[in-house]
Amino acid sequence: MQLIARRVREAGVYSVLVRPDISIAELRKLNPVGLILSGGPASVYEEGAPKCDPRIFELGVPILGICYGMQIATQVLGGEVKPASSREYGRTKLHVDARGTKDDLLVGVPADTTVWMSHGDQVRELGPEFVGLASTPTCPLAAMRHVSKPFFGVQFHPEVTHTPHGTQIIENFLYRICTADGTWKMGNFVDSAVESVRKQVGKGQVICGLSGGVDSSVLAALLHRAIGDQLKCIFVDNGLLRKNERAGVEATFRDHFKIDLRVVDASKQFLTGLKGVTDPQEKRKIIGKTFIDVFKAEARTIKDARFLAQGTLYPDVIESGHALGGAGGATANIKLHHNVGGLPAELGFELVEPLRDLFKDEVRKLGELLGLPEHLVWRHPFPGPGLAVRCVGEITEEKLTVLRDADEIFLEEIIAEGLYRSTAQTFAAILPVRAVGVMGDGRSYQHVIALRSVDTSDFMTADWSRIPHEILARASNRIINEVRGVSRVVYDITSKPPGTIEWE
Ligand code: XMP
Repeated sequence: MQLIARRVREAGVYSVLVRPDISIAELRKLNPVGLILSGGPASVYEEGAPKCDPRIFELGVPILGICYGMQIATQVLGGEVKPASSREYGRTKLHVDARGTKDDLLVGVPADTTVWMSHGDQVRELGPEFVGLASTPTCPLAAMRHVSKPFFGVQFHPEVTHTPHGTQIIENFLYRICTADGTWKMGNFVDSAVESVRKQVGKGQVICGLSGGVDSSVLAALLHRAIGDQLKCIFVDNGLLRKNERAGVEATFRDHFKIDLRVVDASKQFLTGLKGVTDPQEKRKIIGKTFIDVFKAEARTIKDARFLAQGTLYPDVIESGHALGGAGGATANIKLHHNVGGLPAELGFELVEPLRDLFKDEVRKLGELLGLPEHLVWRHPFPGPGLAVRCVGEITEEKLTVLRDADEIFLEEIIAEGLYRSTAQTFAAILPVRAVGVMGDGRSYQHVIALRSVDTSDFMTADWSRIPHEILARASNRIINEVRGVSRVVYDITSKPPGTIEWE
């Protein structure tokens, strides 16, 4: 679903996700140029399978049904859906028939191409109001249209990269059928976001918590463009940051952007609170609570601040169920689930959330447009509790120093080999055991560093990165030689599930 919405935006057409049970009145308010009924795992015969209001077909707005969306629509409009003899999943050959090659939906798609299928049911019989446009060996009606209504359907998934001409089909629908002009761009977004932030805050002061991550960095850069000195950024040094992290944030935001940045060194307070604590959730709770206390105290020193900026993104909005029409889902939201570092509503500020309509890749594009350095825009995510969940067991200053140095070396090697962008999260953890090593003539009994790198796009599932052995070897040698107190380096080859990305 999110992927379809992203593809539409990539084609320069603004899109939002809504629930299938959105009312006609609400839908009208959005004034759409077209609708896409998305796919889903459900069978149209399943109890509780999502249905749509049949009146959407009377709106006169072009509709594209994808997979389940095509089945539900044909059912409403008088076609017949039957279970396929076997569940079809994966790449298959699509043949566009003579009628199809001339149809607006499939113009420019070769007569024979590959598409990605994933379905159990398929449309078997069409009433006289429909025509088929393309087929696959096992699915005679893989693409179709209604003869008098602007309804089109595809049984395959045009939004995935495994359907090489999928983009063409989506663009045909948008440009030819919906006559959208494809001019929605990040540049326009900047102008309208700047304007709406100015309108919302007037002459008020806005506080923004900077973490050094992508979202809060882009948020700060955007707000600074909109309101200049009315923006006050707070960066809390919790003593659990990576090497040189605080200096990097200061260099970018204070020195380069000339943003009013207040850095609070609260590392003592955090580390004292964490003394002797080994339970990961307990660590998170302490860090979350301390963060709120420190942030609140600093925010109080900023006179007349009425607004708090938050880097809420569109997926957070969707998953929290607050999208238009309440497009909530059962998807566990990592951010909400983990967000012990979030700020509570009781702080009493009015929220400013200019990124809430954007997907992550759009936020990165926006960051580039706003002139943020590349290494910041493409930064891997870093958990709110920071190195606390990578310092397994008890946290000590000594372990944190070893961990920072080892982490830095691993990242240096990954970046030098051009692997930073292709991996999703790469870091080191320090384990609560010691291992024996031979150092010169003697035996040592020192720390174990675990290197972890994962490939993932959604962070809900992840695979361990197949980093070439030579790179791992170099990182391991450098860590042992350059970081005092490490006698062993291991590489974590656990996928998620069953493992998690972090060690705690
Ligand atoms: P796991 O370890 O659950 O991590 O597979 C999934 C993603 O979430 C990040 N993560 C956190 N982020 N607070 C955060 O803000 C947390 O407590 C937290 N724990 C994990 C993790 O880095 C990965 O990107």
